[in-house]
Amino acid sequence: MCSAAGNPDWGERLDAYCRSVLRLQGNRIVLRDFLHDDREPFIALETDEAMFTYMKFRVDRASAESIQLPRLLREPLLDPRPSYNLVVQDAKGFSGWSGIDRIQGTDSAQFGWYLRSDRWGRGYATEATRLLLDFGFSTLRVATMWATADPENVASLRVLEKCGLSNQGPTDGVQTWRGLRPRVLFTIEAGHWGVSPRSSEGRDSSD
Ligand SMILES: CC(C)(COP(=O)(O)OP(=O)(O)OC[C@H]1O[C@@H](n2cnc3c(N)ncnc32)[C@H](O)[C@@H]1OP(=O)(O)O)[C@@H](O)C(=O)NCCC(=O)NCCS
Repeated sequence: MCSAAGNPDWGERLDAYCRSVLRLQGNRIVLRDFLHDDREPFIALETDEAMFTYMKFRVDRASAESIQLPRLLREPLLDPRPSYNLVVQDAKGFSGWSGIDRIQGTDSAQFGWYLRSDRWGRGYATEATRLLLDFGFSTLRVATMWATADPENVASLRVLEKCGLSNQGPTDGVQTWRGLRPRVLFTIEAGHWGVSPRSSEGRDSSD
């Protein structure tokens, strides 16, 4: 674990040195850790009204700069790492992001995606989902992966069905920036992804 207590300049360089960027390579996209260069395109998402329609939260410049970006940039340095928020990058660059959160005390992880609206309809979410499921089951070795979507978010529902997740029905209402809304829960087990769940005896401390 890297540390540079008390010296912010040196700390930033040390962070860059210590960072080993995670990359999940797809056909047209790569999912990778956030970098300092992602700052402007990430903040620019705040004007993409269409993107936020069915999301639980919004991105705005103030919270992006003071809370979200610092957290995203430090995430790869955490050990153990609780979540994997990864930029979706295509040939043109930053296209949004996707993420996996491991649920503490369980053998499961939640995932989701947030693409800028000029990248919709190209199959990127489908490709990202397959990369995330493969990473979650084969590398993180979780037993169950799950996602929720707004019942009106037809594209999200379609992507999850297309990737083999099972619709478990609506959840109770959750707080979103548009108020309390239900979600639809989708799950998939490791066995359905073609990966045998690891027995608890086989688990190691690197998880
Ligand atoms: C939801 C989202 C991730 C989908 O990304 P995408 O890359 O456009 O999705 P894909 O192209 O991989 O697949 C979309 C599927 O939904 C279908 N679809 C999209 N809009 C549809 C509509 N209005 N009616 C019916 N089907 C629709 C597409 O035809 C495609 O299915 P197909 O391959 O069978 O034709 C993207 O729109 C997004 O990021 N939205 C904003 C953030 C968000 O809502 N995230 C989800 C939070 S849970």
